[in-house]
Formats: sequence, structure tokens, C-alpha cells
Amino acid sequence: MQIVLRGNGRAAQAMPRGLAGRCGYSTAPTSQRLAGKVAVITGGASGIGRATAEEFVRNGAKVVLADVQDDLGHAVATELGATYTRCDVTDESQVAALVDLAVSRHGKLDVMFNNAGVVGSLSRPPLGSLDLADFDAVMAVNARGVMAGVKHAARVMAPRRSGSIICTASIAGVLGSVAPQPYSVSKAAVVGIVRAVAGEMARSGVRVNAISPNYIATPLVMRLLAEWYPKQSAEEHRRIVAGDINEMEGVVLEPEDIARAALYLASDESKYVNGHNLVVDGGFTVGKVPNMPVPAQ
Ligand SMILES: NC(=O)c1ccc[n+]([C@@H]2O[C@H](COP(=O)([O-])OP(=O)(O)OC[C@H]3O[C@@H](n4cnc5c(N)ncnc54)[C@H](O)[C@@H]3O)[C@@H](O)[C@H]2O)c1
Repeated sequence: MQIVLRGNGRAAQAMPRGLAGRCGYSTAPTSQRLAGKVAVITGGASGIGRATAEEFVRNGAKVVLADVQDDLGHAVATELGATYTRCDVTDESQVAALVDLAVSRHGKLDVMFNNAGVVGSLSRPPLGSLDLADFDAVMAVNARGVMAGVKHAARVMAPRRSGSIICTASIAGVLGSVAPQPYSVSKAAVVGIVRAVAGEMARSGVRVNAISPNYIATPLVMRLLAEWYPKQSAEEHRRIVAGDINEMEGVVLEPEDIARAALYLASDESKYVNGHNLVVDGGFTVGKVPNMPVPAQ
């Protein structure tokens, strides 16, 4: 496995508004695209989940955040006016209880964002030495945890003939060489889950879609880069994300961009979008430059 670092120098031009932190653009404060809707977000204490919680609340949703980082989760919920509850998505009974909490507190569930994820071991062994215990641990969160979220959201959404289920996949489920194997397999499985259930859910009036982000400098990715490139600074790690894993000139992918993709899929604006994998990667997976010398002119 490798990441091709082309050093294209875009980082300097495209430095984001606040890469690892809170930043930038959001929908207008007055927009209410989720007015009256109830949403659950797993992995809601940090990164993409947190940004999405903020966007959903801003757009009028009642939000229940779930995570295993309790202090952070409580702080985010307090700041946003949301509810926090602990939920380890590897435990089905906790996922069931999370969904039931949203329904008991707010009367229904309209949006389930299965977003919690882990990257697993970063040691990058040759395939013949792959640690299957690590594989199982990653699959338990990223694939089985998503399946549990889809299952229990369907349990309460299908009888109401309405709902939007969103699952965070990754470009690692599209391209096989940009992350450790267990992570790539788990994210391909997320897209597989969406495809496996979308038809059945359509006949119940419920939509199920995936979002596949490119690299974003969230805590998950900063930890990965710190381990892979220990001699480089955090700033240099951010430049890798901003410049070397980025095809888009002049802009950098931020958690808020994924939050707005989730907002679209959660809202009625996407009422006919079902079984889709919304790849938010600036064209990275379709426009990647091969790791070979530039042809002679
Ligand atoms: N950051 C990226 O570059 C990137 C790219 C593609 C996909 N993703 C995916 O986006 C999702 C969010 O990741 P992020 O980048 O915001 O990272 P993050 O680490 O900031 O957030 C992930 C959250 O999931 C929580 N979590 C982990 N295991 C859990 C469990 N068993 N039960 C409940 N919560 C759990 C963590 O505590 C954390 O708050 C993940 O599914 C990740 O795989 C991230």
C-alpha cells in the first residue's frame, strides 16, 4: 500500500480556512432545510460528525449525538443545543437504545447518519502478515456498526414510510491503495450495505445513501499521518492533505463540505436519491495522476 506524494505545491495556494479546526462556510443561519426533522449522528463528537451536527441544528433539526468520547460529546451537545448519549456502535443493543432514545425524546426518527469510524492499525504489514484481529476490530465499527445503524433506523422508519439513512464510506472504498486494507474493505462494505438495502427500503419510503469523502485533516487522519510520517510536523501533515491528496485547485476539503452533502441527503431536496454513493473528493478517484514520469513533449 502506498500513497503517491507528488508534491504538487498546491498546498500553499490552497491552504484552508482552518484545516484541522472549525472553519469556514456554512449554510445561511436562517436556512431551515431540516425543520421539524429528528436526526441521530454516530461519531458525532468529532470531525465530520460534529460538523454535521452543527449544520443539522442550524437547519432546524433536533439532533441526538452518539459517540464513545463522552466528555467531548457532552460538550458538543451543550454547545449546539443537542442531546448526547454514549453509544458504542459495535454493540447492537446500544445502537437499538440510541434509536429508541431519539424516538422517545422527539417522537420519531427522520435521519440516521451512520458516521462513526476507526482506521485501525497503521502498521501497514505486507498482506501475508495481515492482522485479522485488527481486521475484525475495524469491520466491527465501520461495517457491522453501520449495518446495525441501518437495521435499527429501518425498524422505526419503515412503519412511518419515511426517512433518510446516510452512511459514511470513503474514497478508500473506491480506490484500494489509499488506506490500510481493513479500512478499505470496511468502507467498500459500507457502499455494499447501501446497495443491498436501498431497494427494500425504497418500497418502505425510506432512502439509504453513502457519502465517500476524500482525506480531511480530522483527528482520525492526523493520527494516521503522524504515525506514517513521524518526522514531519502537523503543519506538514496538513499540507499533504491540502496539496498531495487533493486534485482541486484552490480549495481544500473540510468537514463542513461533508456536512453539507449530508444536509442534502437528509433533506427532502434529495427525495428521489436512493442507493447512491456521493463521492466528495474533488475528482480524486476519477482524476488521479499515475505515478509515472511525465511523457516527453
Ligand atoms: N477524515 C477523513 O479523511 C475521512 C475520509 C473518508 C471517510 N472518513 C470517515 O468519516 C467518519 C468520521 O471520521 P472523522 O474523520 O470525522 O474522524 P474523527 O476521529 O474525528 O471522528 C470519528 C468519531 O467516531 C467515534 N467512534 C469511533 N469508534 C466508535 C464506536 N465504536 N462507537 C461510536 N463512536 C465511535 C470517535 O470517537 C470519533 O468521535 C469515519 O467513518 C471515517 O472513516 C473520514
